[in-house]
Amino acid sequence: MSKKLLVANWKANPKSLTEAVRLARQTDAPNVVVAPPFPFLHSVGGVLRRSALGAQDVFWSDGPYTGEVSTNQLKRLGVRYVIIGHSERRRYLAESDKVINKKVVAALKAGLKVILCVGEGRHENIRRAEDFVKTQIRSDLAGIRGRMSSKLAIAYEPIWAIGTGRADSPQQAGSMAKFIKKTCKNYIHIKNIPVLYGGSINSNNASSFLSSTYLDGGLVGGVSLKPVEFRKLIELSS
Ligand code: PGA
Repeated sequence: MSKKLLVANWKANPKSLTEAVRLARQTDAPNVVVAPPFPFLHSVGGVLRRSALGAQDVFWSDGPYTGEVSTNQLKRLGVRYVIIGHSERRRYLAESDKVINKKVVAALKAGLKVILCVGEGRHENIRRAEDFVKTQIRSDLAGIRGRMSSKLAIAYEPIWAIGTGRADSPQQAGSMAKFIKKTCKNYIHIKNIPVLYGGSINSNNASSFLSSTYLDGGLVGGVSLKPVEFRKLIELSS
């Protein structure tokens, strides 16, 4: 199996800086992106030797935008990757495709690597799920062309599988990844875009996702906070 990318999405965890630094040391590995909450970025970045530093969101501009964090600020902290459009932000903060598109454009222009999250809300028929994901991709990536797209990856995260312990089947996730690659080629002329799967990945199911030809890695929430289990995922992805 060739090396696959693992993105550790810590969300609003852990509770303290001490725990964050300990967790970062325990999960440091070459094919891993560690995405802590903003307040821990600086210290976590300071202890990572092999992993890349990631952020969980970004705003599209510097300036008078209370509470926001800009691409330049992230870059100065050593951040290389940014997750954009996570379903929890779409759901709890009503982040729209229009807003997500502005963030994707700004982050790519700034030279950050973007992991755009897409995925349908309900467990449903594959055709309807594909239509939903296609619409998200076309809106979220409007205006993205050419060289900009070389720093882009898509995380397919069916919402019903996030944090529920009910992962998608590796076959369905693989077939959706194939569909996403085709959609990106046809509509935005991006060839062979990397696609990650996210949603209840654990040490028991990871190998079937990571061995899929169409999946280039995983976006991991809950298990990225459990260093012993996460190390098993690192071994499987190396
Ligand atoms: P989960 O989260 O692994 O806890 O399901 C994945 C995600 O939200 O990115």
